[in-house]
Amino acid sequence: MRRRLAILTSGGDAPGMNAAIRAAVLVGSDLGFSVVGVRSGYQGLIDADFIDLGPDDVIDAIRRGGTLLGSARCPAFRTREGRDTARRRLADARLDSVVVIGGNGSLAGARALADPEELGRQALSVVGIPASIDNDIGHTRLAIGVDTAMNTIVEACDKIADTAAAHDRAFIVEVMGRECGYLAMATSIAAGADVVLFRESGKSTDTLVGEVTDALVELRSKGRRRAMIIKAEGVQVSADGLKSRVDGALASRGIAVETRVTVLGHIVRGGRPSATDRLIATRLGHAAVRALAAGQTRVMAAWSPGRLPAGARWSSADPRCALIDLDEVLAETARLLDVASPEAQWRAKVFDEMGPVLRL
Ligand code: F6P
Repeated sequence: MRRRLAILTSGGDAPGMNAAIRAAVLVGSDLGFSVVGVRSGYQGLIDADFIDLGPDDVIDAIRRGGTLLGSARCPAFRTREGRDTARRRLADARLDSVVVIGGNGSLAGARALADPEELGRQALSVVGIPASIDNDIGHTRLAIGVDTAMNTIVEACDKIADTAAAHDRAFIVEVMGRECGYLAMATSIAAGADVVLFRESGKSTDTLVGEVTDALVELRSKGRRRAMIIKAEGVQVSADGLKSRVDGALASRGIAVETRVTVLGHIVRGGRPSATDRLIATRLGHAAVRALAAGQTRVMAAWSPGRLPAGARWSSADPRCALIDLDEVLAETARLLDVASPEAQWRAKVFDEMGPVLRL
């Protein structure tokens, strides 16, 4: 009997999700699956909101940001009852395979959906694909959406730098990332920022205010006309709160620097996916469906060129993609956010040491 594949996107959308859907539809169709899309993430599973998808439906999707299937956060899916309903809907529609495209919450949902104890005798295979602008998912070098988000931030910062220089101003630019400082760190280099602030440094607000103030004084003494501070969303103090504390500290030192705040917010999540995101998403979509066809379940297809994470195996379909158990992905994600993994510790250390270099 023909196998049937469901594809869903869940959590915050990320540019490139459509490219992953497209690849899953094309590869799935080629391998003989009949493919449906699930609208609105896990809520659509619970509501059996399915649409048939064939190559003609997705062929141009590679160019579009957002997700053509829609996304949602779904509290009902966190309950056993919600998941049982979702599994019943899948069984009723004879869907035996699911690709879940999304961030940490979505991947935790994928693991729960395919929990052997909860599944009982139902035959259901689930493979995850990491998609989140935050780059906070364990064991994937890049998640889908990160590259486009970085480009959007850099473009915005270039524009801000023009007006900052024209008015001799210092800008605090806040970027998304939830609890993860990756976007702030990476774009501080690419945008030529003077200071980067991220939660993983573990520094108190007082320390951050002191460091920003010192940096602005230093830049003024060097005759620099503009300053840019990139602040990760996860840093406890708000951008406005930071501005007012820094303004106070500068005033008390008799230094006149005009400061402004720009919170980039959801602008960072939208837009046409970059070439890199299209490529990564397509290759992960391909690897994920091949994994399902080969009988894999409860794994994530990770973008992992040149480095096989511990406990992972290479995808037989793509030498840059690894397949990793979702348990291990979620454990590594927790370590990343707790700054307990070597990767997270390296990021925090390097960017701390790099502070003075940014202002040379
Ligand atoms: O996880 C992606 C993300 O854009 C985060 O960077 C941000 O904190 C959050 O989602 C915003 O969520 P919402 O769109 O629900 O406000």
